[in-house]
Amino acid sequence: MSPTNGRRIFIAGANGATGRTLMKLPQAQDANLVPHYRPKSAQGKTLHPQAAVLDLTDAQALDAAMQGCTTVMQLIGTMRKRFSTGDTYETSDIDTTQYLMDAAKRCGVNHVVLLSSVGAGKPTGAYLKAKAKAEAIVTNSGLDYTIFRPSAFHGAGHRAPPGMRFLMGALGMHRFRPILIEELASSLLHVAQTGIAKGQILEGLSLWDVVAAS
Ligand SMILES: NC(=O)c1ccc[n+]([C@@H]2O[C@H](COP(=O)([O-])OP(=O)(O)OC[C@H]3O[C@@H](n4cnc5c(N)ncnc54)[C@H](OP(=O)(O)O)[C@@H]3O)[C@@H](O)[C@H]2O)c1
Repeated sequence: MSPTNGRRIFIAGANGATGRTLMKLPQAQDANLVPHYRPKSAQGKTLHPQAAVLDLTDAQALDAAMQGCTTVMQLIGTMRKRFSTGDTYETSDIDTTQYLMDAAKRCGVNHVVLLSSVGAGKPTGAYLKAKAKAEAIVTNSGLDYTIFRPSAFHGAGHRAPPGMRFLMGALGMHRFRPILIEELASSLLHVAQTGIAKGQILEGLSLWDVVAAS
């Protein structure tokens, strides 16, 4: 496989914990990546040479940035404690997914990699319902997709309860086993570059199989 495998990957949410971890991976250095930042989050930062700085509501700017991309990776999401900044599940998790899928179709993207959450298949509560809506936007888009449904993250500012990773593995509750953010980022990039697991929703053992292959 060449370093890029012919894939050019638009990374929405590059400024988040997963996105930052992915951008620092050794294998990301030779990949063809277009990391996306909101204008307010790009201020004062030294950015990647191919960075796309724009508001995702700006369809014209989004199309220009996505031109030539084969893949869209959607890592955007929010949490209730950030609602005071103006972000909500509707604006962050759902609407951005719609803007990205609309642009992906206009720009000829042929693979979407969505970071969702364990539990989105049987959603209870506003967070998981938003994740389920984002998943439906992707699965109804007509584009090839791979959806990741990990459990709690560990690393890059996230901390899973101590012992939970071991305990969930020992009990065979693989869906709820916390994931190291480096292994998540590495698996997301591997799937985006190889196109494996197309049409799959990765949760529990299927997710851990991809982690092991990455
Ligand atoms: N934490 C967990 O344990 C866990 C478990 C399973 C799944 N997940 C999901 O995994 C995903 C990634 O998590 P993370 O911890 O890496 O995320 P994070 O650190 O919270 O970062 C979220 C990213 O989304 C961006 N964003 C939010 N609203 C936006 C908008 N309206 N337009 C453009 N960008 C927007 C943020 O941009 P700014 O930097 O500009 O604010 C940031 O880059 C989330 O969807 C989360 O729900 C998390």
